[in-house]
Amino acid sequence: MKYKSQKVAYWFFALSMLLLVLQITYGFIMGFARMGMDGLHEWIPFNTARSTHINLLVVWLLSGFMGAAYYIIPEESETELWSTKWAYVQLISLALVGVITIIGFHYNFWAVFGWEAIEGRKFLEIPRQLDWLVAGNVILFLVILLMTMIKGKKTTTTSLVLFGGLVAAALLYLPGMITFDSQVYDSFFRWWVVHLWVEGVWELIMGGMLAFLLIKLTGVDREVIEKWLYVVVGLTFLSGILGTGHHYYYIGVNNIWLIVGGIFSALEPLAFLAMALWAVNMYRKGEKKHPNKTAILWTLGSAIVSFLGAGVLGLAHTLPQTNLYTHGTLVTAMHGHLAFWGAYAMIVMAMIMYVLPNLTGRKLYDTGRSRAAFWLANLGMFSMTTAFGVAGVAQVYMERIMKVDFGQVQNQLQVHFLVLIIGATIFTIGITLYIIDFLKYGLPNDEALES
Ligand code: HEM
Ligand code: HEM
Ligand SMILES: [Fe+2]
Repeated sequence: MKYKSQKVAYWFFALSMLLLVLQITYGFIMGFARMGMDGLHEWIPFNTARSTHINLLVVWLLSGFMGAAYYIIPEESETELWSTKWAYVQLISLALVGVITIIGFHYNFWAVFGWEAIEGRKFLEIPRQLDWLVAGNVILFLVILLMTMIKGKKTTTTSLVLFGGLVAAALLYLPGMITFDSQVYDSFFRWWVVHLWVEGVWELIMGGMLAFLLIKLTGVDREVIEKWLYVVVGLTFLSGILGTGHHYYYIGVNNIWLIVGGIFSALEPLAFLAMALWAVNMYRKGEKKHPNKTAILWTLGSAIVSFLGAGVLGLAHTLPQTNLYTHGTLVTAMHGHLAFWGAYAMIVMAMIMYVLPNLTGRKLYDTGRSRAAFWLANLGMFSMTTAFGVAGVAQVYMERIMKVDFGQVQNQLQVHFLVLIIGATIFTIGITLYIIDFLKYGLPNDEALES
């Protein structure tokens, strides 16, 4: 590392890994419940497990993005962080929000304040009152980054895109905090958060991280790499904003969205394709490749798997004619898993593998274990995606075409979850190896400072 304050990143990554382990635990609880083994039902009913699983996902990814930003912004701006003390305050408050949310999902202790238990708005399940805590936390985070950039010597395209993505993500959290009496309005604005995050501004955050990693890992000139970043940002905005329409097909809004949503969302894979081509081309072109092959593997992997999970599997159900049948089924879960994994989980994991040797001074990269972690996690996730996909198609056929009763179909699907659990086990072995690597690196220390 070049600046002492970059060490803050480590603790955000550590929180990230802890929450990932918890997320996986809840994944298994649901997987077994779906197989009919729902012994924990009294304490952890399915809706609690589901909300916990996906909210934990969002929080560990955000913690990963924050760690990445605390590492990247000082390095790009060529200055120490504006305040490490406040960064630690922000870390602790983030962890606190996470803990309060998880406990609340299970024990509904906030009923005493008259707050909703689990709001039933997928991904935005926390009570609106808690949203203010989230907002405060994120504002503090952004202020620290902004002050760092202002006092820094340089402002690069990479840091601007990363920071812009983070600010926009914070602003887009607000539409999810408004209360509506109408289900249609509520759904309409829920997508401003959920869709415009993952298919809009989070892509900028990913693009910023990818640019940074490619600059560091391939040795290709910054000018060349950042030119591609403009292309990615352009394609994202062109397709992603009006692409929101693929969630408006049959929810009770104007029919124009059938056409607008269909056309623009079908263009969305282009941004992900551009990222995959960008990473592969820069890798091929790079003559001074970094010895950290593990970080290179996760970086290229993220760019390629995000194209498959988000681009290809997104396209598979994005037209109104198919979405009419697949909406809200396990086809959605199939796409949700590989897209989140490829685009956002893997880029965070790439960042961690690049940053840890720099923070700790230990060069443990390119070992058998670190390669096995990558391949097993991916093999596991692809198997899980396949299990969800096959179950989803069976579900669509039985429930929506043959009109078999919902509950009966759910029973028929149980066998697919055995396959899911097998895939999830392989995935978890991969993640365990990754976390062993994480722990082996040990704590960050000042001896790792580059002179
Ligand atoms: C051991 C690993 C995991 C297992 C067994 C698992 C299992 C599940 C199950 C059973 C569901 C509910 C599907 C339904 O509605 O019936 C679910 C939802 C979800 N999981 Fe996982 N999961 C695992 C890991 C992950 C990871 C690593 C990610 C992200 C990278 C992830 C992202 C999601 C998302 C986004 C949803 C919601 C999908 C939707 O909205 O339809 N899961 N998971
Ligand atoms: C990394 C980027 C992406 C991620 C993380 C992601 C994740 C998800 C998740 C979690 C859902 C379920 C949301 C919910 O029901 O609340 C979803 C739905 C959907 N996604 Fe994506 N997605 C991404 C990109 C894309 C792209 C590029 C397309 C189109 C080409 C697409 C098409 C869709 C469609 C059509 C639905 C609605 C499914 C339904 O009606 O049930 N997604 N996505
Ligand atoms: Fe979307």
